[in-house]
Amino acid sequence: MTTPWGAGPGVMSYVPPAPPGAVAFTPAEFLAWARGELAEHRGHRLPGPWQPGQHLGLLGKTREGKTNFAVWLCNELRDYVLALDPKGMDESLSASGWPRMSTVPGGRARPAWLSREHRAWNKIQDALAEEVPQRLIAGVSTRTRQADAANRRLMEDAIEYCRQAGGWTLLVDEHQVLSDPRMFGLGPSIARMAITAARDKTSLIVNFQYLAWIERAGVRQSTLIGMARTRDRDLIKMAAAAAGRPWQELATIFDEFEHKYWWAVISDEPRAPVLLVRPPKVT
Ligand SMILES: Nc1ncnc2c1ncn2[C@@H]1O[C@H](COP(=O)(O)OP(=O)(O)OP(=O)(O)O)[C@@H](O)[C@H]1O
Ligand SMILES: [Mg+2]
Repeated sequence: MTTPWGAGPGVMSYVPPAPPGAVAFTPAEFLAWARGELAEHRGHRLPGPWQPGQHLGLLGKTREGKTNFAVWLCNELRDYVLALDPKGMDESLSASGWPRMSTVPGGRARPAWLSREHRAWNKIQDALAEEVPQRLIAGVSTRTRQADAANRRLMEDAIEYCRQAGGWTLLVDEHQVLSDPRMFGLGPSIARMAITAARDKTSLIVNFQYLAWIERAGVRQSTLIGMARTRDRDLIKMAAAAAGRPWQELATIFDEFEHKYWWAVISDEPRAPVLLVRPPKVT
C-alpha cells in the first residue's frame, strides 16, 4: 500500500511548501545536508553542514519535540554522545534507550566495586578503546533534596569529563535547569565548554524553553539554532539576534509555516535559507 504522496506506509516524505527564504527537507534529505552530502536543494544554496565542534541550540516551548529532535540527530550524526538530564528521569530522554549512568569517570561519586554501574563503565571504556559508538545519559532520579544535590554534582562532573576526554557530543537537555543560578547554577561551566569545545571537536547541543538572559552564552556560540514553531515575537527576536539575522524575515517564515513538530534550523551564514524539517518520532 502506498500513501497519497507516493511513499510506502510509515515513510514520511511529505514536505509542505516552504515560504520564501526557507527550504523544506524530508528527514533523509536533512541528514544528507547535515553530513555534508547536499550543497544545493530545491534551487537553494545550502549553508555548511553540522561539523564536529559546532554547537546547536534548540528552542521550543514544552512538548514541542526538543528532546526527540536532539536524540534523532545524535543517533544519526554523532557516535559519542553524553546526555545530561538535570530534570532527572526525563521520559523522552529515557525513551532514547541510551543507558542511564549515575557516575562518570573521574567524578566525585564512585561506583561501588563490581556494582552494575562499575561493570557498565568497564564495558563502556573497552568499547571506547575499540571505537564502538556510545550514547549515554547522565542523570539520577531527583525526588529528594539529597538526590538533587547528587544530580547537580553528576552534571558538573560530566561536563568536566567531556571537556577532558574530548570527542563527545554533550547534549544538555533543559539548559535553564542546568544554568539558572537559582537551580543548578552550571551556566558558567557550559559557557566555558562552549568556547573551548571546538578545539577538541566536542559539539554541544543545548535545549531551551525560553531564552532568559542567563542562558544566552550557549546559544551565542551556536553555529545552528533550531526553533520549533512559535508566534512569540520576543523569542524570534532573540534567536534572530543570536544568529545575526533580521528578525522580520524569521517572523514571516514562522507566520506562514506553522506545522506541528516541524523545526526551522537557522545558520549563522547571513544569506543561507532557513532549513525546515520534521524529524521522525524516536522518543
Ligand atoms: N517529530 C515528531 N513526530 C511525532 N511525535 C513527536 C515528534 N517530536 C516529538 N514528538 C512527541 O511529542 C512529545 C513531546 O516530545 P519531546 O519530549 O521531545 O518534547 P520536549 O520539547 O523535549 O518536551 P519537554 O519540554 O517536556 O522536555 C513526545 O510524546 C514525543 O514522542
Ligand atoms: Mg525535553
